[in-house]
Amino acid sequence: MIWHPFTLQYEPEQPLKIVSAEKEFLYDEAGNSYIDAISSWWVSIHGHNHPKIIQAMKDQLDRLDHVLLAGFTHDPAENLASELLKVTEGLFRKVLYSDNGSTAVEIMIKLAYQYFQNCGESERNVFIKWNASYHGDTIGTMSVGGDSVFNRVFAGLLFPTQEFESPNCSFCPAGKKPDSCKTECVDAIETFFERNPKQIAGIVIEPLILGSGGMIFYKEEVLERLEQISQKYGALLLVDEVFTGFGRTGFFFAYQRAKIKPDLIATAKGLSGGAAAIAVTLASEKIHSAFVRPESDKAFYHGHTMTGNPVACAAAIASIKLMLEERRLEQVSRLEIKLKEGLEKIGKEFPELIRDLRVMGAVAVLELEAGAENGYTYPGNKILKKKFLEKGVLLRPLGNVIYITPPYVISDVSLEKIFKAIRETLAEIYSGK
Ligand SMILES: Cc1ncc(COP(=O)(O)O)c(C=O)c1O
Repeated sequence: MIWHPFTLQYEPEQPLKIVSAEKEFLYDEAGNSYIDAISSWWVSIHGHNHPKIIQAMKDQLDRLDHVLLAGFTHDPAENLASELLKVTEGLFRKVLYSDNGSTAVEIMIKLAYQYFQNCGESERNVFIKWNASYHGDTIGTMSVGGDSVFNRVFAGLLFPTQEFESPNCSFCPAGKKPDSCKTECVDAIETFFERNPKQIAGIVIEPLILGSGGMIFYKEEVLERLEQISQKYGALLLVDEVFTGFGRTGFFFAYQRAKIKPDLIATAKGLSGGAAAIAVTLASEKIHSAFVRPESDKAFYHGHTMTGNPVACAAAIASIKLMLEERRLEQVSRLEIKLKEGLEKIGKEFPELIRDLRVMGAVAVLELEAGAENGYTYPGNKILKKKFLEKGVLLRPLGNVIYITPPYVISDVSLEKIFKAIRETLAEIYSGK
């Protein structure tokens, strides 16, 4: 009945039916438990079914299920907006609601485009992107994503953009070392700006980690330089915090770790702790002021039916409260140390199998030598997933890149089980141990 996402329809794999969840565990029909080592696509930062989030949603449902947000407002939407403006330390002026990461990024792109239309600079219509970036599955977000198996078939539908090679501090495109480089990976973008000073609307980036493109890390200085360049040439900096938001890199937002000031950010995933479909785009005063005009064609005509749903907003407010009250960022720093220790041990045991190990905040990455030439389409990926699941661990490697993005509250015992499952799987598949 269901056409499952990212699933080949030719002899599709049987999906596993999950009936309940708690903390880092998912439970199937037969009562088997699985450690959700990827927070179900990076959302369940407090673990599944956190009682405080569930209670906040139930309380909200007793009062108001939904009301449209055009011409109406309600406390959960107002309070969440206020919380978001607080945790972003006054950098932004307005919050636009939507339902998922793709729509939040789509809004960010449309706002940036219309900003220049409203300002009378309609020649600024080029967006710069990196070749390993991923920003979602809508036509707009696929356009600003790097060319990949996800969007290639739709190439004819995508709007033109300017693509550059992504930074990558493990495998530097300029052949440099992170501690001595001068962000040479940004040189080509700067040259493009020099040649086209008035054509570029904005740079669209995933900050510090290119997630779906292979959990590629790069350093803060790259973002600092992009900020300088975009400011120098009057272009906008559009930061996609869909994955990196809400503590994933050890800071509330990755842009804060890099101490930059984006014009727009989009965030989703961890926003509600995985309990509701909600996303937001935050716009600075500079962006908003270009829309404060009397002409009707200067309004921003974008709004999804369930935009700012009260129950989803209530979940997000409860999630942000948990982030602060339960000191999740400190938890992420402790988790980072444990993830490093765990990965180092695996690295020592299987030096010949591992191409790179890296950890940032609550993201741990183990890149295999096998399949390095295939990337996302590495055929060994299926068997890896299957073996992990058989051992009670949900991991979904991106091709040859095994990554762990656990709930921040994961126990040490569960972490050990994840490392053990990886060690055993590597031994079984590659060493024949
Ligand atoms: C950086 C980034 N942007 C956007 C998206 C799209 O989010 P969604 O799947 O909620 O539409 C994702 C999803 O993985 C993402 O990682």
